[in-house]
Amino acid sequence: MNLKPLYITVPFESKDGIFQPGIEAPGRAKPDWCIADKFFKENPTINWVSSAAEKKRVFWLQAGEQSKCLTQVEQVLKWLVKSGAHRGQSIAVVGGGTVLDIGLFAASIYQRGLYKWSLPTTLLASVDAGIGGKNGINFMGLKNYIGTITQPNIVVSDYRVLETLKPLDVLSGWMEMTKHGLIGNSNLWLKMKRFETIPKPGLIHKLIEEAAAVKQRLVEADEQESGPRKILNFGHTIGHALESAAAEQKKELPHGIAVGLGMLVSLHWSASRSDNQILQNDMIEAAEIIKRWLILEASNQITSTVESANLNTLWAIMKMDKKNNTQHVREVALTEIGHAVWNQPLSFEEFKTCWFGAHSEH
Ligand SMILES: NC(=O)c1ccc[n+]([C@@H]2O[C@H](COP(=O)([O-])OP(=O)(O)OC[C@H]3O[C@@H](n4cnc5c(N)ncnc54)[C@H](O)[C@@H]3O)[C@@H](O)[C@H]2O)c1
Repeated sequence: MNLKPLYITVPFESKDGIFQPGIEAPGRAKPDWCIADKFFKENPTINWVSSAAEKKRVFWLQAGEQSKCLTQVEQVLKWLVKSGAHRGQSIAVVGGGTVLDIGLFAASIYQRGLYKWSLPTTLLASVDAGIGGKNGINFMGLKNYIGTITQPNIVVSDYRVLETLKPLDVLSGWMEMTKHGLIGNSNLWLKMKRFETIPKPGLIHKLIEEAAAVKQRLVEADEQESGPRKILNFGHTIGHALESAAAEQKKELPHGIAVGLGMLVSLHWSASRSDNQILQNDMIEAAEIIKRWLILEASNQITSTVESANLNTLWAIMKMDKKNNTQHVREVALTEIGHAVWNQPLSFEEFKTCWFGAHSEH
């Protein structure tokens, strides 16, 4: 790995401001610049960001998939130029997955790269997008088509920031946590599956840390995604296709929820590849639990996405996914709960069968 980031987790009991103990550690220079989710302009819960804003050191970014475009990156780059930011300086990016993707990508290409801090503020970003250095934007309707893999220098996690998240965004992060349990930590999954409803982030700090550790471990093993890191894409080829189709129809579909719907199909497919009845049952049980969580918290979105899905269109988008070539779709499959394999060829017939298996009651 070219650079192993410094990972700092602020203790839950801390009485300091959110992120402050990580940002203001003795002997470490604070970030010179900041790109932050506009949410914190309207809800100034992070004192350090508010005081940087008073000094005109913050670029406020509108979160959301529509912001993940070249125009937005260009605006960030122009702001850096006009502000006189230079290569010897550092920048903190504060936000959920969309703000981190835009901000860290811009910071990676500006003057060939600034010193970068990643400060995730959503559950999804805490366990996934804030870690790993893979940042990019959407292009021509295709998810994350342009980007870089360069590690942030420092990742500061402070789960107290998650208290203000909307239930839908908690669900979205919970889905990525689920993925991490299913692909790489069966104990995590066993603990998660006991929850009837989606818990508030304040109750699950230990589980959030465990889910983040799965991502850290896979990134360290394979920074450039030539092998094992690919399993983080479990449920993502289908999830990304659903997101692209939703964007085309001008519908909102949070990333984690799209991934949840994708995982349902991938779990049915994984079960169909096994001849061990116990493993099959485990996988179908996992699919049923995920489906129950999704319907409980996002019934309308799930129904509308499933009912409007056109499998031919989804398949065409899946073939364009950057993990594939235009002939084949290669997917991640579970061999058992907690263990996954990558680059497994998925046929259109299998996709259709497993889609109907997963979503038939809709
Ligand atoms: N780079 C990676 O490795 C990676 C990994 C997984 C996902 N992603 C990307 O992440 C994106 C999804 O991220 P997301 O779910 O965080 O979405 P997001 O960034 O759009 O945030 C979701 C919502 O939460 C709000 N928000 C942020 N912090 C908050 C807080 N503390 N309290 C209240 N509201 C808050 C945002 O303003 C937004 O409305 C997708 O674009 C996906 O492709 C990237």
